[in-house]
Amino acid sequence: MPLVTTKKMFEMAYKNGYAIGAFNVNNMEITQGIVEAVVEEKAPLILQISKGARDYAKMSYLRAIIDVAVKENPQIPICMHLDHGDTFEICKQCVDDGFTSVMIDASHHPFEENIKITKQVVEYAHAHGVVVEAELGQLGGIEEHVTGVDDVMAHLTDPAQAEDFVKRTGCDSLAVAIGTSHGAYKFKTAPKLAFDVVEKIQKRLPGYPLVMHGSSSVLQEFKELINKYGGKMPDAMGVPEDAISKAGKMAVCKVNIDTDLRMALTAKIRQVFAEKPGEFDPRKYLAPGREAIRQMVKHKLHVLGCAGKAAECL
Ligand code: G3H
Ligand code: 13P
Ligand code: ZN
Repeated sequence: MPLVTTKKMFEMAYKNGYAIGAFNVNNMEITQGIVEAVVEEKAPLILQISKGARDYAKMSYLRAIIDVAVKENPQIPICMHLDHGDTFEICKQCVDDGFTSVMIDASHHPFEENIKITKQVVEYAHAHGVVVEAELGQLGGIEEHVTGVDDVMAHLTDPAQAEDFVKRTGCDSLAVAIGTSHGAYKFKTAPKLAFDVVEKIQKRLPGYPLVMHGSSSVLQEFKELINKYGGKMPDAMGVPEDAISKAGKMAVCKVNIDTDLRMALTAKIRQVFAEKPGEFDPRKYLAPGREAIRQMVKHKLHVLGCAGKAAECL
C-alpha cells in the first residue's frame, strides 16, 4: 500500500469517535520508534514533517526512511504530511515531493489573506490528489519556525469565521485554536481548553474534521528524568490526556504531538550520559531514546483511541 491521504482516516475517526496521532519526525530513530509502536498497536499513522525537519534532515533522507516504513508495513495506512507550511511555495514543493497531505498555516495573516493563500494551496493540492489542512485562530508557544501568541485565550478560533473559512477555501480539515500552545510550557496555571469552541464549530460544520495542534502532554516521567539528570524544565506543563481523549470523541480527528517525542528522547539521552559519563557510542544513547518513544507512542495510541483501527482506515 502506497502513502495515503487522511480522507479515509478522518472519515472513520469522526464516525467512530477517535483521533489519529500525527507525530513529527526529524530523524531515523524517532521515525522507527513511532512506526514500531503503530505496527504493534495496529493503528493508522500520520507522519509529519516541518520546515525545520526538512532543513535539518534533508527531505530525500526523510522520504527514504518513510518509504521503508510504508513498504515494510502494508497493513498500516501511513500519510506523509507537511506541518505548518507557511507559504504557497513550500506547500507546492511538498505536493511535488510526493506528500499526501499539506498544512498551509496562514493563520498569522488577516482573515481575507488567510483565505486567499489557503484557496491557492487547495487548488494546487487537490489537482494533484493531495489533501489540505488549514489553520484559523492562533496558538501559543514557540518552535523553530512557528511563533505563537502570548495570550492564547484571546486568539481562539471564532466558530462563525470557521464555517465561512471552510466553505470559501474548500480545505479538507481545520486546525483550531482552543487554548493549546506548541512546546513544553503550555499553561502557567491549571490547563484549560475551550471545548465549547469545538462544539460550536461541530454544530456549524457537522462531519467536518478538526485538528488539535500543541497537544503534547509533557509526561511527568520524562520531565522528572530530564530535571533529575541535569536538565532544567521545572515549569513544563502540557495538555492532560483525558482532554485529548475527550477531543477525539468530538470533532477532533487529528492530534499533533512533537514535544512528547523530543522529551522522551532527551530524557533517555540525559540518563545514559549521567549514568555512563564515558559513553561515546551514539547507538548506546539513541537506542534507549528510540525505545522510550516506542513505548510512549503505544500509550498515546490508546489515549487517542486509534489503536486497533488500522484496517478500517485502509
Ligand atoms: O509545531 C511545530 C512542530 O513541533 C515542529 O517544530 O518547527 O521546531 O520542527 P519545528
Ligand atoms: P507539541 O509541541 O505540543 O508537541 O505540538 C506539536 C504540533 O502542534 C506540531 O504541529
Ligand atoms: Zn503545530
